[in-house]
Amino acid sequence: MSEPNVSGSGERVFLRLGPPPEEPNQFVVDGAPQSYSPEVQARLEVDAKEIIGRYPNKRSALLPLLHLVQAQDSYLTPAGLEFCGQQLGLTGAEVSAVASFYTMYRRGPTGDYLVGVCTNTLCAVMGGDAIFDSLKEHLGIGNDETTADGSVTLQHIECNAACDFAPVVMVNWEFFDNQTPDSARDLVDSLRAGKPATPTRGAPLCVFRETSRILAGLPDERPDQGQGGAGPATLAGLRVAKENGMQAPEAPQTPTGEGD
Ligand code: FES
Repeated sequence: MSEPNVSGSGERVFLRLGPPPEEPNQFVVDGAPQSYSPEVQARLEVDAKEIIGRYPNKRSALLPLLHLVQAQDSYLTPAGLEFCGQQLGLTGAEVSAVASFYTMYRRGPTGDYLVGVCTNTLCAVMGGDAIFDSLKEHLGIGNDETTADGSVTLQHIECNAACDFAPVVMVNWEFFDNQTPDSARDLVDSLRAGKPATPTRGAPLCVFRETSRILAGLPDERPDQGQGGAGPATLAGLRVAKENGMQAPEAPQTPTGEGD
C-alpha cells in the first residue's frame, strides 16, 4: 500500500496498488509447467509460425499466441509466457504486461467449460446475481473455482454487450440468453453430463482448450448453421424505426480534414 495522499479538500486518502483482491497474483500457480517438452515445443512452433505469418510485425501476434499457449495448458503458465516471448522477441515483462491486462487470459487451471455469469448492472438487476448465487450453491464452488471433476469453472464476468438478452451466461464465450437460476442449473448439469446444451446464439460448444485454439485463429471446424448475428431484441429498435418511417438525420457537413 502506498503512503497516504492528501486530497484536494485536505482529506487524507489511501491508494491501494496492485492486483484486484480477488485476482490471483501474477501467473504463479503451484505445479505450473516452467518449460515445454521438445515435442510440445515443436508442435506449438508449427502453429505459432502460421499465426505469426499473418502479421507484418510479428509482435502483433502476441494476443493470438497467448490463446495458443492457453490451449496447451488451459491457462497462462510460465512455460506459455516464455514461449510467446521467444517466438516474438519480447521480454517476459512485455508479455506479462499484455497478458495481465485482458480478462480472457486465465491465471489458473480451467475446466472443460468456463461458465461466466454476467453480474454487471443490467444482468444483475434482471437476475444475474441470483443465477450466480444459485450456481455457486449447486456446484459447491466459489468464483473462479473449478469442480472436482474438472468439468466446470465458474466465474462472474462483466458486461458482454448482450444486455438486450439479460441476464446472460456465457460458456466458453458462447451466449446463453435470458437465463434463470433453473435454466442455468440445467445448463451446468448438461455440461457435467458431457451433453452440452446448445447456445442461444453462436456455434455448438467445444471444450475450453479447443475454444482457445479457435481464438488463436486456428481453424474452427464447428458447423456454421447461421446461428450468429443479432437477435430480435437487438433489432427491435430498427424494426420500430422502419415501421414508422423514421430515419437518422443527415450528418452535418464538415470541412475536409475536420473530424477525420
Ligand atoms: S450487463 Fe450483462 S451483458 Fe451487459
